[in-house]
Amino acid sequence: MTTETLHIEIQQVAESNIHQVDFDNLVFGKYHADHMFVADYANGEWQSLRVVPYANLSLSPATAALHYGQSIFEGMKAYKNDDNEVLLFRPLDNLRRLNRSAERMCMPTLPEEIFMAGLETLLRIDGAWVPKQEDCSLYVRPYMFATDPYIGVRPSDNYTFIIFTSPVGKYYSKPPRVKVETQYIRAAEGGVGAAKCAGNYAASLHPAKLAQQQGYDQLIWTDAREHAYIEESGTMNVMFSIDGKLITPAVSDTILNGVTRKSIVEIARHWGIPVEERRVSLQEVIEAIQKGNLEAAFGAGTAVVVSPFAVIGYDGIDYELPALTEDSFAIRAKNFLTEIRTGQIADPFGWVVKI
Ligand code: COI
Repeated sequence: MTTETLHIEIQQVAESNIHQVDFDNLVFGKYHADHMFVADYANGEWQSLRVVPYANLSLSPATAALHYGQSIFEGMKAYKNDDNEVLLFRPLDNLRRLNRSAERMCMPTLPEEIFMAGLETLLRIDGAWVPKQEDCSLYVRPYMFATDPYIGVRPSDNYTFIIFTSPVGKYYSKPPRVKVETQYIRAAEGGVGAAKCAGNYAASLHPAKLAQQQGYDQLIWTDAREHAYIEESGTMNVMFSIDGKLITPAVSDTILNGVTRKSIVEIARHWGIPVEERRVSLQEVIEAIQKGNLEAAFGAGTAVVVSPFAVIGYDGIDYELPALTEDSFAIRAKNFLTEIRTGQIADPFGWVVKI
């Protein structure tokens, strides 16, 4: 099956909603572009590929995903270059992770041809929704969920895969204050921490709400055994610039294999900056802050891009982090990534896919 031979039924909106969007004041997740791509999995194969107007779904009250959580998703971003061509960033890395999540959650994998054909068709139709404003992009949300109308506990036989898009601005309007979580956990070895599944996010909401009540924006999760090692944050992987090195927790079955994380690591290596991907203890980070050796602590993720932290709260103490200059690795890496993704400079890594 190739992209050319796949049949995608197309039903376009009678009138676009694009004029209702204030592109100069985009907030994350508020608007949705006109169309969505949909595919159904039934009788052991993906079928009924279609692009249809973005609209509510009709589901049985017994829909399996709503009860037992067979539901996975991805996040990607599309940008425009100066010639108004739409550029996607590393879509096949997201597909690979979607399929790893699918295997862990006992769901069917999605063939590359369907994923890419769906993305390309949707983005050609809704290309006008890709913003060009600074710090803005079209966020692309592919997801899959179990649709059997059956409440016995077993893997569903039927699934729906959807891609919809959303023009977005910055995820955090200012550098987030993050709290190191040492009571609740996000993931344990052997669990589903490496899968981008809905339940991981549901389980994070209560601890995140408690942290928000204490004045923080987000959590830094620690390991389930000792609460001594840093894992990741609620919406991003976590990285540190210490003594001229980039240090970040190695990916494992408790940490998401972030595409932005991986890209920042590759950029650092490309620039000859020493990178350490390993277990990162809280103690070493706090000591580095106290000794003045920590240049930056930041989150890396599709939604947040690169988000330097303002404060790390740990054990009742708020550690204020230094303000970053344009020379700092985090800011240089963010700018370099943006220039690659928007086609302002040649892409030395082959990451950008033109639609
Ligand atoms: C993304 O960065 O795309 C994510 O999936 C994080 C999201 C939960 C905001």
